[in-house]
Amino acid sequence: MAEKSKVTLSVIKADVGGFVGHTNIHPDVIDAAKERLHNSKEKGAIIDYHVLRCGDDLELIMTHDRGPDNSDIHGLAWSVFVACTEVAREMKLYGAGQDILKDAFSGNIRGMGPGVAEMEFVERKSEPILVFMADKTSSGAWNLPLYKIFADPFNTAGLVIDTSMTGGFSFRVVDVKGGREITLKCPLEIYTLLALIGTTSRYMVSSVTRNSDGEICAVVSTQKLSLIAGRYVGKDDPVAVFRTQAGLPAVGEVLEAFTFPHLVDGWMRGSHTGPLMPVPFYEANPTRFDGPPRVIAAGFQLCNGRLIGPHDMFDDPGFDSARRRAGEISDYMRGHGPFEPHRLPEEEMEYTTMPQVLESLKGRFKKCE
Ligand code: F6R
Ligand code: MG
Ligand code: MG
Repeated sequence: MAEKSKVTLSVIKADVGGFVGHTNIHPDVIDAAKERLHNSKEKGAIIDYHVLRCGDDLELIMTHDRGPDNSDIHGLAWSVFVACTEVAREMKLYGAGQDILKDAFSGNIRGMGPGVAEMEFVERKSEPILVFMADKTSSGAWNLPLYKIFADPFNTAGLVIDTSMTGGFSFRVVDVKGGREITLKCPLEIYTLLALIGTTSRYMVSSVTRNSDGEICAVVSTQKLSLIAGRYVGKDDPVAVFRTQAGLPAVGEVLEAFTFPHLVDGWMRGSHTGPLMPVPFYEANPTRFDGPPRVIAAGFQLCNGRLIGPHDMFDDPGFDSARRRAGEISDYMRGHGPFEPHRLPEEEMEYTTMPQVLESLKGRFKKCE
């Protein structure tokens, strides 16, 4: 029997310029991205696409049959970001080309600034997909919800009730500072997993597979912009992609993990912690103190690679209490002003101007007994 053909879902994102400041994207920039991806679809380079935005981040959601890390697909995304940067420059939008860290494309967009989450799989009889996009935070923000979704039965009832999930899931974890990775098989290794991924600034879950058959369930973007550039250049503002239902966590089990607005790094100047607020698309405008950090969720049904959707998954009063709570937590955290733990510890602030402040005081520090 012929092997069933695989589809690849690629979500590639970048901040190419903000409107106004770092809060949103100008509609002309989004139109420029749509026009280019429309042309690529017409030429058959991709099967389908959708362009969305979360805060000041431009999100390209594409399907094709070329597999992950394909140079044509990455090159297409790169050319879209370069073209959109040009549109942003013409309007003097803020931080135009912020995440475009290299001058020329060299075959793979990883390590060049944009964030990438890609997965390849055989499309099931029905394939419900969730794409999460966040602004004003970094990839470690997914660690807590990923743990709840794939390892915590208090979140995911299917871990107890559905025999196709009781074998558990494996987490691949990247050490972004050590340049290495490890796979931990849960539930057996949940304590070890937590020992690592509780350190959200260093250990980041990059993908999850099902133990019973190795099926890919989730992938996230783990690029750390500050490590690529060697200095603070903006936040990662990561994406995460989930396959759901029929032996995988249900749509509602995946979304449930976001009812707890956990504290994440990346608010104002990439130097503060704040609650991750789940919002509908039209509320992904982080204007309060450049935040608080936001997450949106786009739902799709895949149909032979076609993206049927998006459905705005957090546009549900069921998430109102999480939003309210995030607002209250924001008030509380802001009350700390420039003090930790609202302001991040020195080594995590990653902002260019703080070392300069300390440098200017160098001569005034006296040795103490
Ligand atoms: C950007 C971000 C913002 C900026 C802040 C200062 O993702 O987190 O909070 O860091 O608006 O930006 P600059 O230094 O460009 O004035
Ligand atoms: Mg920005
Ligand atoms: Mg952003």
